[in-house]
Amino acid sequence: MSPINFIQFGEAFGADRLVDIMYCHYPAEMGIYEGMVEDAVDYANSGVKVKIPTTSSTLCSDLEKPYITEIPEKLAELQSKIEPAHRKMGILETYTCTPQLLGFIPPFGSYNALVESSAIIYYNSVLGARTNRGGMFTRFSAVTGKYPLMGYLLDENRKGTHLFKVKISPDRLMNYDMWCALGFHIGTIVGSDVPVIEIREKNLKQEWLLGLGSTLATAGSVTLFHIPGVTPEARTTKEAFHAEIPSDYYEVTDNDIDAIYKKLTNIDKGEIIDFVNLGCPHYNLEQIRYVAEKLEGKKIADGVRCWICTNRMTRKQAEYSGFVEKIEEAGAKVVTDTCPVESHMRISTCKEFGLKTPNVDAMVCNSGKMLRYVGDLIGCKTALTNIDKCIESALTGRLV
Ligand code: F3S
Repeated sequence: MSPINFIQFGEAFGADRLVDIMYCHYPAEMGIYEGMVEDAVDYANSGVKVKIPTTSSTLCSDLEKPYITEIPEKLAELQSKIEPAHRKMGILETYTCTPQLLGFIPPFGSYNALVESSAIIYYNSVLGARTNRGGMFTRFSAVTGKYPLMGYLLDENRKGTHLFKVKISPDRLMNYDMWCALGFHIGTIVGSDVPVIEIREKNLKQEWLLGLGSTLATAGSVTLFHIPGVTPEARTTKEAFHAEIPSDYYEVTDNDIDAIYKKLTNIDKGEIIDFVNLGCPHYNLEQIRYVAEKLEGKKIADGVRCWICTNRMTRKQAEYSGFVEKIEEAGAKVVTDTCPVESHMRISTCKEFGLKTPNVDAMVCNSGKMLRYVGDLIGCKTALTNIDKCIESALTGRLV
């Protein structure tokens, strides 16, 4: 994109000027899209450099250990050209969907340009750092340090649009997968609007907010949510709606949540499964520690692949802490830079790179976002359940 087009893009959305941005999360330039790697390499060779701190989103391969995901050699080779190109441009090789876990936390109210819907919604909602869904425009933002003043960068677009009162059993709130189901339910209703979610519990874990945001952004295309008393632009419900109180509200009940589990599960209890995925969005060190302790001294069932997806820095720390060894001894894998839906396991990519099928029949997972995509892209059966049941299923080879 030329500077002229970038200005025209802003004008088309009513922006009257470009503003300085503080941070950029750069698009995954994946080998699974035709011509994307070559284009990225050419762009880097043209001599452009990023002007602001810029991290990079997920790829289709674990660049350090491509063999652990069984990626076709030709695709791994193609994908490996990205890292030197990014380095040349000054992009930091993070290759993750959770750059916030690596310390990239711009100040409240700052302007930024990010890709990756689960990161975008987290930055906007939980950190109060402003960004639109950047897409390929982040390429230009990274090298200019600018973005048109529009969309969620503006106060008026950050006002709540729908009120949800969460009335589900408090014990269910302790599970990450439930937050995914909650996001899925609300995201389906609001589409691209701004939900305000009233919930009695205020002591919410970072991972729950990540799970909630990731499914709001995929079941709908939500970019910002507020939780009164929790997220920074909503000390109260009134503040979330910019002093206007909506007349209507939705109650979210246990039945609504049950319906989402049903929607994302078409594997029967006791049925044979062959893939368990944890780490969507990419896990932090504490989450990896939990899995390592659960798997210690046990063995994943024959015929089951179990991936725990994270970023490469966290894997290094997990190696140092001895967690990776425990996980690998059990027969599971700590995978970095990618995840099943971003990998070569997509049906279309398999065909293009000479694999007959993705070779996955039934995937168990605790992430609503992952399951929203794998059914279509990988074409397998799916089950949404909690982390302990995911691990138990991996150990027994059947859905628990
Ligand atoms: Fe990240 Fe893949 Fe999930 S990119 S958010 S682990 S679908």
